[in-house]
Amino acid sequence: MPRFTPDFLDELKARLRPSDVIGRYVKLKKQGNEWAGLSPFTKEKTPSFFVNDQKGFYHCFSSGKHGDIISFLQETQRMPFHEAVERLAEEAGLPLPAETPMEAERAQKAQGLAEACAAAAAFFAKSLKRNQGRGALDYLRGRGVTDQQIDQFTIGFAPTGRAELKDYLLNKGFTEDVLIEAGLTIKPDDGSASFDRFRNRVMFPITGARDRVIAFGGRALDPNARAKYLNSPETPLFHKSSVLYNYSAARTASAEDNAPLIVCEGYMDVVALWGAGIRRAVAPLGTALTEDQLALLWRASDEPVLCFDGDKAGTGAAYRAIDRALPGLKPGKSLNFAFMPEGQDPDDLVRSDGPTAMQDVLGAAQPLVNVLWDREIQSRQLDTPERRAALKAHLRDLAKTIADNDVRGAYGVELARRLDEQFRPAPRSPAGDARQNQRPQNRGGKWSGNARQGFRYTEPAQPTPDLKRRGAPTNRAREGALVLAAIYHPGLIERQESAFLSLDLSDGGLKTLLCEVLSAISVDPALDSAGLRSHLTQSGAVGPLERVLNDPELSKQRFLRPDAELDEVEQGFKNALAHHLFESTFKQEVARSASQIFSDGETAWKAATAAREEIKNLNRASESNTRDDTDSPERFEDALERMKASVGKKFNR
Ligand code: UTP
Ligand code: MN
Repeated sequence: MPRFTPDFLDELKARLRPSDVIGRYVKLKKQGNEWAGLSPFTKEKTPSFFVNDQKGFYHCFSSGKHGDIISFLQETQRMPFHEAVERLAEEAGLPLPAETPMEAERAQKAQGLAEACAAAAAFFAKSLKRNQGRGALDYLRGRGVTDQQIDQFTIGFAPTGRAELKDYLLNKGFTEDVLIEAGLTIKPDDGSASFDRFRNRVMFPITGARDRVIAFGGRALDPNARAKYLNSPETPLFHKSSVLYNYSAARTASAEDNAPLIVCEGYMDVVALWGAGIRRAVAPLGTALTEDQLALLWRASDEPVLCFDGDKAGTGAAYRAIDRALPGLKPGKSLNFAFMPEGQDPDDLVRSDGPTAMQDVLGAAQPLVNVLWDREIQSRQLDTPERRAALKAHLRDLAKTIADNDVRGAYGVELARRLDEQFRPAPRSPAGDARQNQRPQNRGGKWSGNARQGFRYTEPAQPTPDLKRRGAPTNRAREGALVLAAIYHPGLIERQESAFLSLDLSDGGLKTLLCEVLSAISVDPALDSAGLRSHLTQSGAVGPLERVLNDPELSKQRFLRPDAELDEVEQGFKNALAHHLFESTFKQEVARSASQIFSDGETAWKAATAAREEIKNLNRASESNTRDDTDSPERFEDALERMKASVGKKFNR
């Protein structure tokens, strides 16, 4: 709606004093030429928020925010620009600029329908308080609805007669056509007289922009009614899929309480939550959330909370909401998911257990990525490489639906990280659990200790110069080789997919770099090395990237040359991987088993000592083996297998 010219906006701002407009939301005190008050943007005790009427702006020293009356309403009331302007124009008595003739006609017609809806809402409200509304009022009271809630939501009653509203509105001068077009009355096809759409129902007016009533929802009082809830049909004023019940009031409350919007299922949930002091709830109108509604939510909150029933149907609805939300995710804009106790809606919960129960549910809300992950993990078995690969492919497809590049990339990284964690072998013992997150890393340290005190594995702070001189690659070089191979030859990733997915690196920087590589490739499998590198230079892994690209230790190795053949690369990679697995996983496991077994007594201690000797020997063997990566790979792999078997025999009790 770009119909406000700079002249119009200047005129608007000239007519209103900022201290008047802002003073309605912030308590201001005159201070010299300016007005001072507590910042509406931060929680502060001494005023650092100033309004200057001459200059026509506000400035907030605690948040650095600065703007005019329009941006003030946008920022503090979360109003869209055009709505802020329209509201201020009304206040200033400034006619809105003329639209095109067609727009003007449409607006005029809509205004006529809105007036009929407003009159109908007043009629319903009055009817509730009359004798004929007695039953409805008792019903509401029975559901714990107070007079305040009735006023706040202008809840009303549609009488039982066939055309009571129609007669009332015709009397007020509305035409039958307007009533029909506003969805208030129904004109049968057979030409008989039109009649009221809503009869014997509790009525919830639905408001749109500028708080105009645009439609109604009506709950049947008769338990045998064909529909429990009936909504207005689509009209020129009302498009169900782009409206949320209670949106405008909830948006204001959300801004005031500095808390996100909450989405629940029905009118009564919104009303009940408001009664429980949670005023920021909205509801779609009997359908699943649409893209338009998501856009409304994100306009008011970065991370609105969606409430779902904890049962199967509710979980299913949450899962569907994820798919609808993914394409629209933006940096900072997401959803959280709160699950209600099974079979209870927010209305039931606050009435049975009070507001804190609802706060607890909201407090336990899960970020979208968690719910997405659960959905994918729960629904499939991951016990074969094929099934794991299928999961990976599926996750890649899901991430691809995210339109925003940054969010898509971040999802790629996150899902790759979770996959990595998921497919990592489980720890051997319960004691291993605690260590899982910070597994001991082998950095060429030493075993020490004795039978009584136990053996300890000591890690040196830095790879010893000694080791370097003898030519055994450091941790970082060893791991860097694996990552660099993927960077120079992205085609390798597909060939060695499961290896890359389960690759466990001890160097934090390389870990991040690898995650970035895998996610970039999962988003765009056709990426070549140059494209990949240019992507990486813009990622959070530039540091490690430069390090591996410039590491002289790595550039010496033949298979790491950018122009190496893919087969050669793959062979070199496999060797490096075998070595890496030996150095990290295998040795760690031996270390872990050794310390575990040790506590079992002397026999085990002897086995541990033997294992220690074997590790030493193996170390020597592997050192001589890593000088040239392409040198007799079979022998090394064989040796590794042999050693695994021999140590395994001793430790697999
Ligand atoms: P529910 O059937 O879950 O009922 O409808 P509720 O909100 O708990 O209703 P109460 O507590 O029995 O009064 C949830 C929402 O689905 C839409 C309405 O918007 C309702 O608020 N709905 C439901 C319909 O549009 N039509 C229906 O027939 C039923
Ligand atoms: Mn309910």
